[in-house]
Amino acid sequence: MEIEMDKRETKMKQNVILITGASSGIGFETALRLAAQGHKVYGAARRMERMEPLQAHGIVPISMDVTDEASIVSGVQQVLDAEGRIDVLVNNAGYGYLGAIENVTLAEARRQLEVNLFGLARLTQLVLPGMRKQHFGRIINISSIAGKGVIPFGGWYNVSKFSVEAFSDALRMEVRPFGIDVSIIEPSGIKTAWGIIAADNLEATSRGSAYEEPGLKMAAMLRRTYTSNLLSLPVSIAKAIDKAVNARRPRVRYRAGFGASMFIALHAILPARWWDRLGSKVAK
Ligand SMILES: NC(=O)c1ccc[n+]([C@@H]2O[C@H](COP(=O)([O-])OP(=O)(O)OC[C@H]3O[C@@H](n4cnc5c(N)ncnc54)[C@H](OP(=O)(O)O)[C@@H]3O)[C@@H](O)[C@H]2O)c1
Repeated sequence: MEIEMDKRETKMKQNVILITGASSGIGFETALRLAAQGHKVYGAARRMERMEPLQAHGIVPISMDVTDEASIVSGVQQVLDAEGRIDVLVNNAGYGYLGAIENVTLAEARRQLEVNLFGLARLTQLVLPGMRKQHFGRIINISSIAGKGVIPFGGWYNVSKFSVEAFSDALRMEVRPFGIDVSIIEPSGIKTAWGIIAADNLEATSRGSAYEEPGLKMAAMLRRTYTSNLLSLPVSIAKAIDKAVNARRPRVRYRAGFGASMFIALHAILPARWWDRLGSKVAK
């Protein structure tokens, strides 16, 4: 009976939340939203100066490179030392290393997976023991519509996000008996620095190669789209993450941003060759 009470009390408390990639875009917006709701939010990223504005909202910045084991371990420990627990982990840090499969070096491909997959995996491993002990926890992994449908030059980014999907599905089944929920967020194109970084990478990998023309065209298209008003804003994803944090029974997947559900549905129903044809048009 006493244990049951403890479990309920834990659930009623405001959550201690660690969110990665809090220096920009979706992570920044989500940290603000969750802190405004009264949660205790720790935001992690490499660029500490970008997180200074978050401090005025009670958010604690943590210096963390998700490719560096020591940095991940000390970041998690910092939260545990201060709060004694982590209730919610939002694995959001990520970037897009776009380029033709032939052009992207395996070193860059490995780095893409280090950030988007293995960093997320290591953080997950480190928060699970505490979550199991308190019989409550939420792990929210930011995937993408790119975790469901592939586009040309998206190769290694797609690999990283397809992996996040599979990783999260296995994890969800394993940790449910311990009272831990796992949700996957699948944003469409969102107006953040992501698109400009992806365009820079695509340009760099395409120049002087057999893929130069379609690569540069697609990079230009990305730049145009990500500087236009066509895309949804980061707040649309912050709202989805908010639901995964606060819902009594969080959903397995949240699709958010303009066209996300349509993209995923099209990929599911179209024959592969038709999808290929659509994809090739993007890179023309
Ligand atoms: N924007 C989109 O269209 C879109 C669509 C679908 C999914 N997503 C996903 O949404 C997530 C957030 O992206 P965003 O759109 O908000 O892009 P963003 O504005 O570029 O933010 C990316 C965040 O990831 C952090 N990060 C990158 N490498 C890191 C590393 N090695 N260690 C620690 N942090 C690192 C960056 O912080 P520092 O550089 O300061 O470390 C930054 O805070 C990513 O997983 C992305 O793949 C984005």
